[in-house]
Amino acid sequence: MKYQTNLIFDLPQTGDNANRILKKCDVIKPNFAEFYGEHLLREKDLNIPNLSEIQVLRHYTNMSAKNFGVENGPYPLGSCTMKYNPKVNENMANLPGFRNTHPLQPTETVQGNLTLLYNLEQQLNDIFGMDHFTFQPSAGAHGELTGIMMIKAYHEANEDFERTVMLIPDSAHGTNPASAAMAEFEIREIKSNADGLVDVEDLKQKIDDKIAGIMLTNPNTLGLFEKEVKEITGLIHEAGGLCYYDGANANAILMQTRPGDMGFDVVHLNVHKTFGTPHGGGGPGAGPVGIKKILEPFLPKPVIKKLDADQTKFILDYDRPQSIGKVRAFTGSFSVCVKTYAYILAYGKQGLAEVSEAAVANARYLLERVRDSYHVPYQEPAMHEFIITAAWQKEKYGIITTDIAKRLIDYGYHPPTVYFPLIVQEAMMFEPTDTETLEGLEGLADALNAIAKEATENPDLLKNAPHNMSITRPDETKAARNPILKV
Ligand SMILES: Cc1ncc(COP(=O)(O)O)c(C=O)c1O
Repeated sequence: MKYQTNLIFDLPQTGDNANRILKKCDVIKPNFAEFYGEHLLREKDLNIPNLSEIQVLRHYTNMSAKNFGVENGPYPLGSCTMKYNPKVNENMANLPGFRNTHPLQPTETVQGNLTLLYNLEQQLNDIFGMDHFTFQPSAGAHGELTGIMMIKAYHEANEDFERTVMLIPDSAHGTNPASAAMAEFEIREIKSNADGLVDVEDLKQKIDDKIAGIMLTNPNTLGLFEKEVKEITGLIHEAGGLCYYDGANANAILMQTRPGDMGFDVVHLNVHKTFGTPHGGGGPGAGPVGIKKILEPFLPKPVIKKLDADQTKFILDYDRPQSIGKVRAFTGSFSVCVKTYAYILAYGKQGLAEVSEAAVANARYLLERVRDSYHVPYQEPAMHEFIITAAWQKEKYGIITTDIAKRLIDYGYHPPTVYFPLIVQEAMMFEPTDTETLEGLEGLADALNAIAKEATENPDLLKNAPHNMSITRPDETKAARNPILKV
């Protein structure tokens, strides 16, 4: 479908209706100035497009159709988890009692909000095996930085100033080394083995008395569960380090296993990836961070505390001398916490277990449906996401991952994440999520298999795709270096 791409001001300005607003009013006596004051009179014409109401409506309706989201069709963007966000959560966050409160209100007047945050903390402690959670961070990477700063504060409190190295596997999401570097750690990379898991022998070589800890993602960014995870956390603790769990992929483990039980001291969650809240885009989201008791003194402040034994009164505790301080105003994105809490209550423990089972089953089903058409680099069972590559197509027909991703658009599907993780060449990472339908999975698998066939019969069809969009293939490098945002 071709969409018009004009800005509203560039459309032919033919609308008589807008003229009515732009013209001087000659029906009511113009006593406006007298009534309201001379200074409120407009001196220049209104700078609005001269269009009729229906022209404006058509313009914006067509613009809205240019967007593709999970509500349009399968959106298998691995590592970015675009699952369906239940609308009831929006309604909960929009309840007047929540919506009309302000973070500067006295705590006595927001006891309901504090109760919700306290209860959510208890729920998350239970689900992830931790002792405390903070809701201040705005997103996953912000949670990482917060957690890593707490690890740093812990070592400094122990006067262990020489612990300056953070161990991070080569398959990690780029935000892991970035967060550790921002907290002024030196990064030491750990190799993955041929199965795509942490190479424990390489890890042993890299442990010394300078290590502050490890950042591990599990399931890792190849979609594989780290089988030696207990041994890994044991080795790090033995060497005096702490263990950080990147819980962005928690959708795969909900109610199956817990980072706390695997030996981790810190975990961050991407609630948009796990608990069906809208993607915060690095801003108005939430990346709660869970910790074990040893890190409690370093939590960002304020911390929500019970004032009385019967759990009915809560305060915000700012008197925390060892706290890393604030990482964001107040207690973070409150409405996102409401949505997270609503999601957890709606599903319940059994429902959450079914979420992770469905996330894994959907990924495995899709992988099996396309396994004969594409190269599968790792044979370990996939968890919530998996990787295939364009290696076969590249070798025989000169087709690269971009070509396959672009051709998928012609079939009406959002492309997968491409060229990530960096350790896999021509990678395509698919994550159908727990909310994808069987019909959606079948359609996506059929499209991928059809594209693999097209690669053998008519490679140019892929190399020039997409064919039915208003824009085909922009020069991405030029677009990034020299963006022209208005024609
Ligand atoms: C494994 C992993 N870690 C960290 C992040 C960073 O999260 P955010 O985009 O919320 O900052 C992501 C993002 O998807 C991720 O997949």
